[in-house]
Amino acid sequence: MTMSEPTSEETVPVRLHVNGVTHDIVVPPRRLLSDALRHDIGLTGTHVGCEHGVCGACTILVDGAPSRACLMFAVGAQDVELTTVEGLTHEDGSLSPVQQAFKDCHGLQCGFCTPGFLTTIAAGIRDNPDPDREDARDMIAGNLCRCTGYQNIVASVLRAAEIQREEEAS
Ligand code: FES
Ligand code: FES
Repeated sequence: MTMSEPTSEETVPVRLHVNGVTHDIVVPPRRLLSDALRHDIGLTGTHVGCEHGVCGACTILVDGAPSRACLMFAVGAQDVELTTVEGLTHEDGSLSPVQQAFKDCHGLQCGFCTPGFLTTIAAGIRDNPDPDREDARDMIAGNLCRCTGYQNIVASVLRAAEIQREEEAS
């Protein structure tokens, strides 16, 4: 006996709080948070690489903690504050310490992995404002970059922490 396939997938309303803005969207229950951010909200800064939680390209902050957006369903992210790479800039639109540091230290090449690194490092230097080189390597250990090597990214972590300390001192 064959079962008939449903012709259209059921959808549910979801309310997401992203970068300080509330978005009401309607999505299938299985919609990944990474896809909801990109396709339903239009925040394409969150990149999708492996969709298996391995590469880190989709890393966003969930209540401030780095999290894989490809491992969450949109419906599971309703009552938390989400921060994507677009939300890292200062309120006046200027670059945040980690964004400026990647520019200063040539921390990106093709840029595909960069959003996940930026969100990861933003949280990392918040928790450890004065990392050494080994701390920096630990901080980014869960993110994969295919084309820069990691030297410049480690340098960017140290520079980002330095800029953050300068900003806090001024
Ligand atoms: S796309 Fe989410 S970890 Fe690779
Ligand atoms: S800059 Fe190309 S994958 Fe990292």
